[in-house]
Amino acid sequence: MEFSIKTGNAEKLRSNCVIVGVYESHELSNAAQAIDDASDGYITNILKRGDLDGKLDATLMLHNVPGTQSERVLLVGLGKPGDFAEKQYCKAVRASVKAVVASGASEAVSFLAELPVKKLSIHWKVAHLTEVALDATYRFDAIKRKKEAAEEKSSKKCIKKLTINITDAKELSAAEAGLAEGKALAAGISLTKDLGNLPPNVCTPTYLAEQAVALGKRYGLQIEVLERDALKKLGMGSFLGVAQGSAEPPKLIVLQHLKGKKNQKPVVLVGKGITFDTGGVSLKPGAEMDEMKYDMCGAASVLGTFRAIAEMNLSLNVIGIIPTCENMPDGRATRPGDVLTSMSGLTIEVLNTDAEGRLILCDALTYAERFEPSAVVDIATLTGACVIALGHHASGLFSNNEDLAKELLQAGETALDRAWHMPMWDDYQPQLDSNFADMANIGGRAAGSITAACFLSRFTKKYEWAHLDIAGTAWKSGKEKGGTGRPVPLLTEFLVARAKKANK
Ligand code: BES
Ligand code: MN
Ligand code: ZN
Repeated sequence: MEFSIKTGNAEKLRSNCVIVGVYESHELSNAAQAIDDASDGYITNILKRGDLDGKLDATLMLHNVPGTQSERVLLVGLGKPGDFAEKQYCKAVRASVKAVVASGASEAVSFLAELPVKKLSIHWKVAHLTEVALDATYRFDAIKRKKEAAEEKSSKKCIKKLTINITDAKELSAAEAGLAEGKALAAGISLTKDLGNLPPNVCTPTYLAEQAVALGKRYGLQIEVLERDALKKLGMGSFLGVAQGSAEPPKLIVLQHLKGKKNQKPVVLVGKGITFDTGGVSLKPGAEMDEMKYDMCGAASVLGTFRAIAEMNLSLNVIGIIPTCENMPDGRATRPGDVLTSMSGLTIEVLNTDAEGRLILCDALTYAERFEPSAVVDIATLTGACVIALGHHASGLFSNNEDLAKELLQAGETALDRAWHMPMWDDYQPQLDSNFADMANIGGRAAGSITAACFLSRFTKKYEWAHLDIAGTAWKSGKEKGGTGRPVPLLTEFLVARAKKANK
């Protein structure tokens, strides 16, 4: 989809489709009012008849509206004027884009960015319009037969060009900046979705490493891929313990986006990259096991975030660390009862081989120390318990630092990609006691997402650290099965805010 920004009049411009908003009270947005005036009350009449109630995300497509030059006018319900805020804005944008696609119009001009949204800048509105439009039209066709994918692409039902109209020409540069940011973020989200959606026989640890190398080439990032021998030398016994049951070789991928000041301490992002989680010898039940291909979504969100910030050329130092392998049952696989020695020297009794995410993350978190980070954030589809606690709306946030937690929560609010702060009190730590090693890798059924975070906290004492459990937010099940791209919006916003602070 191509984008552009213009200042124009809704009733005068020539387009396949003009998108304007209408409130529930039958109050018209400025653009809708202009069309109504030019058409002798055409819209008011329709509203009076009750064809559109103006409820949020309801739409009505009109054709050949008198007094206008466009083929179609799409009315989008905005809900009550007093309730119209960030979320409602994005919902209306999403509904409008879906309706345009369904109509077959290949080009549209949206007047939604002109709507007053409490305290929101034109930059925010254009950025989110762009991001939501690209998100709503995302399709995964990477592994369809080439012919079919091409046919789908060239078929009429896709928007080729979307113009965002703004009222004030003085706002043009802010709008352009918002457009660039929205596009960059959408590119990152799309990469994260693609990697999650790919089948696990394609998206292997080796494939993820290749994608990182490709990203590095494209954007001028330093990429390093550590192979099994190097991991052995580093003493990553915990990570290698998970990997040893798989025929796919493990990789530790390190990405460096060093566009901040030379002496600026980097932010480190660590992403869980289990490309398939069978549970290992503690085998998972069969139902929905295919969804465990999404167990690399932490890794995918690190790669997606790197794509977004590289595309923005964000002036900040950011390091990405991705431990990636499969968790398979095999003659050589780790057994329940095995004790592994982590890179930190701490020993771990593996009571359940299905609690493997923490086993690969702990060594990556120890590895992070060498970068003397200003903060470390790990992202992982870590526990089913987090889904039970928070469902699919919020990611679980755990941290050893209140300020860092607040920063991430705020970023999630701003990006509409929320997290919820969970407790990590010392009271939970004894659940990890082991009779045979420094700790066990599971802490019983109670508070499963918290004891998983407590496990990681033992390896993150040397820096400010936060952990995002994205088990409930990274993908959708059921009819709409697919990666969501979360929490790329949260992470990108967090880094953008850090860059703003650092470059003040
Ligand atoms: N990848 C899973 C977590 C998961 C499960 C994410 C379901 C999304 C949906 C993780 O490796 C895992 O298996 N965790 C176990 C931990 C348990 C053995 C302590 C879990 O949550 O059941
Ligand atoms: Mn598991
Ligand atoms: Zn897992």
